[in-house]
Amino acid sequence: MKKGKQKVYLFLMYFFILAQTNSAFHIDSVSTKEPTEESLFCNNLNAEDFNESKRIPNSRIIIVATVEKQEHYDDYMIALNSTKCYASHFGYSMQLLNVTDKPIYQRDCKHPDFFFKRHCILGIFMKEHIQDYDYILYIDADMGIINPCHRIQDYIDKSKSIEMIFYERYFNYEFAAGSFLIRNTQFSRSFLKYWADYNYRLPDSFHGTDNGAIHQVLMELHFFDPKDKFQCFHLWNISKGYDDLFSYEACTKHALYSNSVNFINNKVKILPKMDPQRWVRDTWLTDTKWSPRDFMLHGWKISLSLDTFMYPFLDKFDLTKCQHGDNKFENFKYVPELVKTDEEIHEILLNKTLFIHAKYNNLLKFLNITCKDGSRRVNGECM
Ligand SMILES: *[C@@H]1O[C@H](CO)[C@@H](O)[C@H](O)[C@H]1NC(C)=O
Ligand SMILES: *[C@@H]1O[C@H](CO)[C@@H](O)[C@H](O)[C@H]1NC(C)=O
Ligand SMILES: *[C@@H]1O[C@H](CO)[C@@H](O)[C@H](O)[C@H]1NC(C)=O
Ligand SMILES: *[C@@H]1O[C@H](CO)[C@@H](O)[C@H](O)[C@H]1NC(C)=O
Ligand SMILES: *[C@@H]1O[C@H](CO)[C@@H](O)[C@H](O)[C@H]1NC(C)=O
Ligand SMILES: *[C@@H]1O[C@H](CO)[C@@H](O)[C@H](O)[C@H]1NC(C)=O
Repeated sequence: MKKGKQKVYLFLMYFFILAQTNSAFHIDSVSTKEPTEESLFCNNLNAEDFNESKRIPNSRIIIVATVEKQEHYDDYMIALNSTKCYASHFGYSMQLLNVTDKPIYQRDCKHPDFFFKRHCILGIFMKEHIQDYDYILYIDADMGIINPCHRIQDYIDKSKSIEMIFYERYFNYEFAAGSFLIRNTQFSRSFLKYWADYNYRLPDSFHGTDNGAIHQVLMELHFFDPKDKFQCFHLWNISKGYDDLFSYEACTKHALYSNSVNFINNKVKILPKMDPQRWVRDTWLTDTKWSPRDFMLHGWKISLSLDTFMYPFLDKFDLTKCQHGDNKFENFKYVPELVKTDEEIHEILLNKTLFIHAKYNNLLKFLNITCKDGSRRVNGECM
């Protein structure tokens, strides 16, 4: 994209986002008025939403997280409690995959790195449950539900072709590996296997495990020509730290978006920063402040408390109060100081987005991927 075009694009995006903020977005429920100690009443939801929405029964959707070690459970308690509770209210299934649980996981997923192993295990789990679940919301175990007035169906893409949805992180140019929303299809399961097996093909560098690898997986499955597939690989191969890793990731992002907005025959979608369809973001971006538009937040580890994450609820969760169909969500009572308006949170995130976008453009020039004026380099030539 030419620089001028990019500016116009950002400008339009800004207004698009503003319009979204001001319009009666479907979550008007957790009030933006003064927060109180009263329980939520999600008045955007009706009784049927607790069983089915957008013609997808809640029972066909499962939230899955993998846990490596028993001791992690305690660290993730807040996040896991909120997610379990949310799932119970809506009748979504929820499964914590124990990496050492089943012999078949041990037999078929020998991946030495836990981060790759988990994708292999998820693929097997999905295959075992073809009859049971059509959609999987995979989450890191330290992702928690801040605002339960959202339905998972709201994040499922309208386009029938999309089988996997990922998102871009705010603080850099990277596609996240920590959560994705996928259909239980042959394509998704093969994708996961391909990704997991990158464990055996990693360069001998600071590769960033599965998060670094997701970028190369997308490159290899999206492009046909080996030259295109591996156009950023050398940056990954020589990576010695986070800056190098992020350079490699910027290169892949630029390459992928150069000829598509969705990837691998429109089967994979990656939600950009600020996309209203994204379901999770890092908690620390806003110092645990949040607004009704938020659904899930990432980074809820008790060991991080008071550092990058503050406990956002008034009390501990009592999971016996999470009943299917109950729209009062008694556990979800909030520390008032952390509840902000959509506009406030939006402003912080937009600032971050524009800042990172400028960094990204400069980095591409520095890497000699784009020309001085921001235009694409074609066969080494600036147009
Ligand atoms: C939701 O499903 C339950 C059974 O799982 C049923 O008892 C209830 O009537 C259903 N509610 C609506 C609004 O369809
Ligand atoms: C996983 O399963 C094994 C065997 O059943 C058990 O010993 C271990 O405590 C479990 N770990 C977690 C994190 O649940
Ligand atoms: C990656 O780096 C290694 C040296 O560490 C080198 O032998 C190899 O050829 C490089 N591969 C590519 C594709 O650049
Ligand atoms: C999580 O839920 C369990 C079971 O209800 C409860 O004992 C524990 O106190 C809860 N912890 C938090 C931090 O909500
Ligand atoms: C906007 O972002 C810049 C760079 O990260 C930061 O210095 C500034 O404080 C931010 N402003 C607001 C209002 O968040
Ligand atoms: C950037 O790439 C062009 C074309 O390949 C080349 O002529 C130029 O020397 C490169 N500049 C740097 C700093 O690598």
